[in-house]
Amino acid sequence: MLLHLKNILDTAKQHNIREMLNKAPFIDGKHSAGTAAKQVKNNLEMRQDTQQAQYLDQLVMGSLAENADFRSAALPFRVAQPVFARYRTGMRYGDHTDDPVMGNGLEKFRTDVAVTVFLNPPEDYDGGELVIHSPFGEQQVKYAAGDAVLYPANSLHRVKEVTGGERLVAVTWIQSMVRDSAKRELLYELDQARNALLRQNAADLTSQQVNRAYANLLRRWSEI
Ligand code: NI
Repeated sequence: MLLHLKNILDTAKQHNIREMLNKAPFIDGKHSAGTAAKQVKNNLEMRQDTQQAQYLDQLVMGSLAENADFRSAALPFRVAQPVFARYRTGMRYGDHTDDPVMGNGLEKFRTDVAVTVFLNPPEDYDGGELVIHSPFGEQQVKYAAGDAVLYPANSLHRVKEVTGGERLVAVTWIQSMVRDSAKRELLYELDQARNALLRQNAADLTSQQVNRAYANLLRRWSEI
């Protein structure tokens, strides 16, 4: 499932982030890529070992965590420190899959879900679409500033060359309580139905049955 998450970051947060990124140190993105991805990766990434990076991490991940659609679709267990990436004109990231396991030592986590948050408006750059291979063909994604896309982290994907301007994104990965993406999708849809029924009539027997079915499926399928 590929999900468009709207308004993760309001205009004030976007401005704040872009201002900080303008002054932040960026390095060649190849440093964080595996052997295969290195061959096709051409972008810049903000250094992650600064106080600024910690602040931006909390700002973006905090905003994601406040979004009910994100929580319902990702069912997060562990989350990564986001990578802030800058694609200048001529930069791209060819077809690759992200590392299956990230982090160090006891901090290791499995990447089940990937999220890209768009930090500047699509009018600011030409090209730069995120292309995700799905069972239904390729999906091209280029959303408004502050929006995000959520997709299974095992998907093959690429970022098309930026042919003018500059593309700014934050990318992060989540270990989900539910490892299997098909199960996560079922839970997401059931959660939508459950919430609609509860809003209509929380005391109704059908609402309660669907609510209970969701809770017990999540209990059955979650691994934490
Ligand atoms: Ni990637």
